[in-house]
Amino acid sequence: MKRPVAYIAGTGRGLPAARMTNHDFAAIGIETSHEWIVERTGISERRIARDGETTCSMAADAARNAMARAGVHAGELDVIVLSTATPDRLLPSTAVDLQAALGATRAAAFDIAAACSGWLYGLTVAEGLMMSGAAETALVVGAEKMSSITDWQDRATCVLFGDGAGAAVLKRARHGKGILASFMRSDGTLAELLYRPHGGATTPFSAEVLEGRTQYVKMAGREVFKHAVRSMAEASDRALDAAKLTGNDIDLLIPHQANVRIIEATAKHANIPMEKVFVNVDRYGNTSSASIPIALDEAIECGRVREGTTVMLVAFGAGFTWGSMVVRF
Ligand code: ACO
Repeated sequence: MKRPVAYIAGTGRGLPAARMTNHDFAAIGIETSHEWIVERTGISERRIARDGETTCSMAADAARNAMARAGVHAGELDVIVLSTATPDRLLPSTAVDLQAALGATRAAAFDIAAACSGWLYGLTVAEGLMMSGAAETALVVGAEKMSSITDWQDRATCVLFGDGAGAAVLKRARHGKGILASFMRSDGTLAELLYRPHGGATTPFSAEVLEGRTQYVKMAGREVFKHAVRSMAEASDRALDAAKLTGNDIDLLIPHQANVRIIEATAKHANIPMEKVFVNVDRYGNTSSASIPIALDEAIECGRVREGTTVMLVAFGAGFTWGSMVVRF
């Protein structure tokens, strides 16, 4: 096991106030039922950004909460890494909008795109910057306005996603606490199982794109499900091996919150009982890269993560990308 370089000094979340329940889909003409959605996904409701709530504003709420918990001022941040699949605009990054909103005057800031695995990728990138000496204090945010890329006429996807943001402040590790192991992987040959076909530089927005609704997320649900189960199993094995631990040593598993059946399969593979798994997908749906930091923040708030707790984080997302991390608090 490596000596930790970075530890999570504080976490925060930023969630829109507006709740959309499974029953609310009837009002927008979607043929579905609460029972179908709960049985297949475990989701009961999700938050939806309204009234000027943006990826940046949710990120800023999460960041301010994390900085308050960590006792860090914006001026102390050396770098801001913001993971998002839903930037407020394409140029410049949402990270620089966040830098401005926070007044983090000496921070470098950039976005990364690794879909639902993005926050774990971001933590690993920030840890690397700390390892190299380029940063002492880092802010890593996952922020998503998934409602802006959801096809609200497609019942197979629109019931799955939600909006929100989560953040952590990383400081230099002390007393053996911090990131003990991490793992990242990708397979772009499978990109078109979960993607937005059009609206990028090769096929910009046009009347045709809008007509065909191909700017929205398309997903081969069953295929994605199978790959998610397989890849999250691999990711948990790799992080445990690297940390020289087994599932028995993990006090709490916090997996990406996409689907409760994927979460159960991941826990079973790692030999971690469901009592040691944090689940909040029922309340927020799939918030992509925000899901793990939101869950971690709630787990800390309700006392399930304390001093000495060993946590495993496992993610999977579009790309495909997947990854994992073992962290001692
Ligand atoms: N309500 C009611 N019926 C529905 C709905 C809905 N919201 N959506 C689809 N159906 C119907 C389909 O039309 C289909 O009907 P048919 O048999 O008459 O053709 C039937 O339900 C079964 O559809 P499937 O897509 O095969 O259903 P499945 O059991 O695979 O569940 C689901 C779909 C929930 C999307 C599942 O495949 C899944 O969870 N996949 C993983 C998705 C995921 O987690 N993605 C994100 C991971 S990566 C990331 O987070 C970005």
